Amino acid sequence: MTESASPSGRRKDDHLRLAHDQQTAPVARTDFDDVQILHHALDGLDADRVRLDVEVLEWTWRAPVYINGMTGGTDRTARVNRALAIAARETGIPMASGSVGIALDDPSTAPGFRVIREENPDGFVMANLGIGRSAEEARRAVGLLEADALQVHLNAVQETVMPEGTRDFSSWPRALEAVVAAAPVPVLVKEVGFGLSRRTLTRLHDMGVQLADVSGVGGTDFARIEDARRPGEDYSFLAGHGQSAVCSLLDAPDPSPTLLASGGVRTPLDVVKALALGARAAGVAGAFLKPAYSGDAEEATAVIRGWLSQLTELLALFGADDPAALTRTDLLLRGRVREFCELTGLD
Ligand code: FNR
Repeated sequence: MTESASPSGRRKDDHLRLAHDQQTAPVARTDFDDVQILHHALDGLDADRVRLDVEVLEWTWRAPVYINGMTGGTDRTARVNRALAIAARETGIPMASGSVGIALDDPSTAPGFRVIREENPDGFVMANLGIGRSAEEARRAVGLLEADALQVHLNAVQETVMPEGTRDFSSWPRALEAVVAAAPVPVLVKEVGFGLSRRTLTRLHDMGVQLADVSGVGGTDFARIEDARRPGEDYSFLAGHGQSAVCSLLDAPDPSPTLLASGGVRTPLDVVKALALGARAAGVAGAFLKPAYSGDAEEATAVIRGWLSQLTELLALFGADDPAALTRTDLLLRGRVREFCELTGLD
């Protein structure tokens, strides 16, 4: 397999490798572990009557789980995208590309993204782009994948640790407003693993953003990934910075964009907890990268099929005949999550 020669291509290959390494030594305890579902022994339903499909804006998704934005732009990452796209097709769940910025700058890298649409012509596909790009670039990103939605990622912490990252975030709100106004499809704004605060969600709502993925801390940590990529200066003090998906969901304002959750979603039980806390669906990156890393579409498909089947069983166990019913789940909040609620004045 050829290593990419360009600096942006090398960065994509590095991200893939370092994120995969993090999967072999995941964060030991996350805020999802501080969310306990109260067990009601007589509340269970018949799993055959459980439906997983869920309404998200004007769409119906086959299940409340999607493959979150990760990669593309090199030979190595195209193999992973192909495996994930086949898995998305076979299981019917939505999938996002990694940032297509590299393909807008260098069209020779576009096939490594287009494979996502080619392998899954009828599936729900999201194109992903970093904030700061123009409205015209947003339109090109959507066109590249014939995308159904556009993910725009906010990644100020990552940029701060990246040697080649920007240090000027002041134009971001205006740039985002222009993209939201001009995008030919709905815009989903997401973090990349540092969480979206109440204030940020309110600002997004006021800008007309309809959908937001709080993508919190506790899973893939881009402060650690970028710190490992840079020689010299140490930024390891930013590891673990940010709010978790759990805390972001608890702290979400009303009104707010429709919420999705990601960041450290390790199991179908974490999906259930995210939905119980108000997310419409949960995004998974690192945990689905693991089976797709070698480019094995069958392995990736088997893992996602397993999640959907276990998710059905969990809904039956918890007495929810569809994902929306999980918002009635009785939850106990412990430890750091409880402390967050106390400190932020949530009851
Ligand atoms: C990512 N993520 C990401 N997000 C984004 O919006 N654009 C991108 O290009 C990337 N690239 C990327 C590469 C790799 C290899 C990984 C694992 C992740 C972030 C991702 O979508 C998600 O927000 C975080 O990874 C947190 O979720 P997990 O990994 O804890 O499930």
